[in-house]
Amino acid sequence: MINEIDLPEEDSEQPVKTIHALASYLLDRHIDPMHEESIIDRIHEILSEMAIVSGFDGALEWQNDVQTSSGMAISVNEAARCLLDYRRTGQFLRGIHQAILDARDRYPGETIEVLYAGCGPYAPFLTLVAPFFTPEEVQFTLVEINGESLSVAQMLIREMELGAYLRESFHEDAILLKLPDPERFHILFSETMDAALEREPIVSILLNLLPQLREDVFVLPRNVIVEGVFYREKDLSKGLDGLWDPANEDEGFSIGIVMDLKEALGTYLSMPPPPDLIFHELQLKLPHAEWREYLALQTTVDIWEGFTLFKNESDITDLRVRKLDDLPSCEYINFEYELVDEPMLAFGVSMEEWEE
Ligand SMILES: C[S@@+](CC[C@H](N)C(=O)[O-])C[C@H]1O[C@@H](n2cnc3c(N)ncnc32)[C@H](O)[C@@H]1O
Repeated sequence: MINEIDLPEEDSEQPVKTIHALASYLLDRHIDPMHEESIIDRIHEILSEMAIVSGFDGALEWQNDVQTSSGMAISVNEAARCLLDYRRTGQFLRGIHQAILDARDRYPGETIEVLYAGCGPYAPFLTLVAPFFTPEEVQFTLVEINGESLSVAQMLIREMELGAYLRESFHEDAILLKLPDPERFHILFSETMDAALEREPIVSILLNLLPQLREDVFVLPRNVIVEGVFYREKDLSKGLDGLWDPANEDEGFSIGIVMDLKEALGTYLSMPPPPDLIFHELQLKLPHAEWREYLALQTTVDIWEGFTLFKNESDITDLRVRKLDDLPSCEYINFEYELVDEPMLAFGVSMEEWEE
């Protein structure tokens, strides 16, 4: 473990150099979680001073979410606070850095073009990543629906003298955007999701952008898996709250994968658009009645080869748990994910099995 003493001294004259030195520690895939946290805290301190957005105060409009055509784009402040979701930021940073290296290997001599959909005010996966490369090696295109977030990100990029890495910016809804030259992009990066794929619009963003991009485009995250697990009160060694304890080993009863995002996108995009808003539906067999107390939706985010966020490691993989009161007599649980204002994996139960 590298300890605190090894961190670079903050140089108020050269904040950009300090940020880069700090970010290089984050590339260590075996980084100690406490160390990761303190480095990201320090990056946040510097960025919030440069960007004048900390995520915790500021203008009233920085607190407003923006409704997209399907899902909520979070406010300037909430997007800034995402940086402090430590494991998320660390794993996505290592993932995009590795993906750029992999793209360079696959396309030697080409400038790697990254489409960054949903950059927030710090655009951290540009501002922290670009300095590891030259502008000839990598270029970024930003898409952001929140005009305030985009203006702050552009100002920060200028302040950090990273303008040479910024190809273009779109103040647009990534769900509706028609890219002028989609073939150009090697990598699509979008962290516009919440746990169990609820609320935020990643599904609709991917549904819009993927058909425009080359078939072999690298997508980060590569996949999101949501599994359904039933728990019983009597098996919970530390009560319900214990389920969020990272060390928790209480055994549940898995009913299987409720959504495999990559597979669901492939299925949806291979068929003519349906007349309704249903993106994905699935029926699974319920466990025996004695298990039907709590249903947990357990999210795993596969960011890139070797970089995964597991259950409860981050806000976007936090367990979502529902108490199941007074279920009628039933055999099946039916899930549905609709592309509506507030998307989520909704479920109901039934006695009958769906017809094939
Ligand atoms: C979870 S934040 C992530 C911010 C930053 N990339 C990070 O990881 O720290 C998601 C960002 O995506 C933006 N966003 C959400 N939906 C969008 C859409 N449909 N089109 C463009 N931007 C969107 C939000 O405004 C927000 O700034």
